[in-house]
Amino acid sequence: AKEPVRVLVTGAAGQIGYALVPMIARGVMLGADQPVILHMLDIPPAAEALNGVKMELVDAAFPLLKGVVATTDVAEACAGVNIAVMVGGFPRKEGMERKDVMSKNVSIYKSQASALEQYAAPNCKVLFVANPANTNALILKEFAPSIPAKNVTCLTRLDHNRALGQISERLNVPVSEVKNVIIWGNHSSTQYPDVNHATVKTSAGEKPVRELVKDDEWLNGEFITTVQQRGAAIIKARKLSSALSAASAACDHIRDWVLGTPEGTWVSMGVYSDGSYNVPAGLIYSFPVTCKNGEWTVVQGLPIDELSRKKMDSTAEELSEEKALAYSCLT
Ligand code: NAI
Repeated sequence: AKEPVRVLVTGAAGQIGYALVPMIARGVMLGADQPVILHMLDIPPAAEALNGVKMELVDAAFPLLKGVVATTDVAEACAGVNIAVMVGGFPRKEGMERKDVMSKNVSIYKSQASALEQYAAPNCKVLFVANPANTNALILKEFAPSIPAKNVTCLTRLDHNRALGQISERLNVPVSEVKNVIIWGNHSSTQYPDVNHATVKTSAGEKPVRELVKDDEWLNGEFITTVQQRGAAIIKARKLSSALSAASAACDHIRDWVLGTPEGTWVSMGVYSDGSYNVPAGLIYSFPVTCKNGEWTVVQGLPIDELSRKKMDSTAEELSEEKALAYSCLT
């Protein structure tokens, strides 16, 4: 039998946490033959709710779930974890400046970064979900220098999946037949959902999305803004954030990272830029990646047209500004 993998979820008493932990315990993240031990961290005001989640995990009698650690102690939460999904954080409240929120979160992630460095398993993989996800991941990377940069990522898979979903709806084809969209840049409204290389499997073979949709105005306009604004649209409809789809995307992200992407398919992940596609090195930026043997590689050599270049640059610019803001909080 396989050794259990320890998975940390921070902010586990929150909305995404509540959707995510049962998925992990059912094997959605790491496979139906992989036992797991869940580590759940939240803050003292949420301790009772966190314990309630733990009770439900026990009650669900998940065969793969070999243990649950529910704690408000960062060191205990990080002890021996192989995967860390960072969902918890200080939310922006009415009347708060961006800098005030950033400043609160910088200090939270600074301490979580050093706890991961000290107590996590070697080669622990980190996924940042809490917003601003790219810049939070960058902060963690800065304060956990012994964790290799390649192990620190952020979630843009939800945006990637949203783009697949929009194409699937538009063409009335199963979403499983659509692939190789790209989310470039920030997990924010400046992200660039790119379909220039995306294809659909049809009875007549694989066809480019552009050829099938036959409506560049939609693809260059409404499609992009729909994906960019989808989070806000769901909050408006549900009065709550998109927890189900975010949790599902977090499982997709880790599963593909650990178990590999299918041949001929890439996915979007926020990763540390090495300057590929002229994206400034040292930002956490969403790229198309393939994964093998637990490592991601940026897909190289895709032709970039003028419109794409502009959009890729403007989302990079926003990330540089966020980075500067984060650094200005490091006093
Ligand atoms: P939520 O407010 O329901 O849950 C957040 C949880 O984090 C709460 O239980 C809170 O007590 C906890 N928390 C606060 N400070 C903490 C700390 N220092 N350590 C550990 N836990 C802490 O929020 P929700 O809806 O679950 O969203 C979580 C985050 O995910 C938000 O930042 C949201 O913007 C982001 N998000 C990101 C998405 C993405 O695609 N990257 C998609 C949707 C949401």
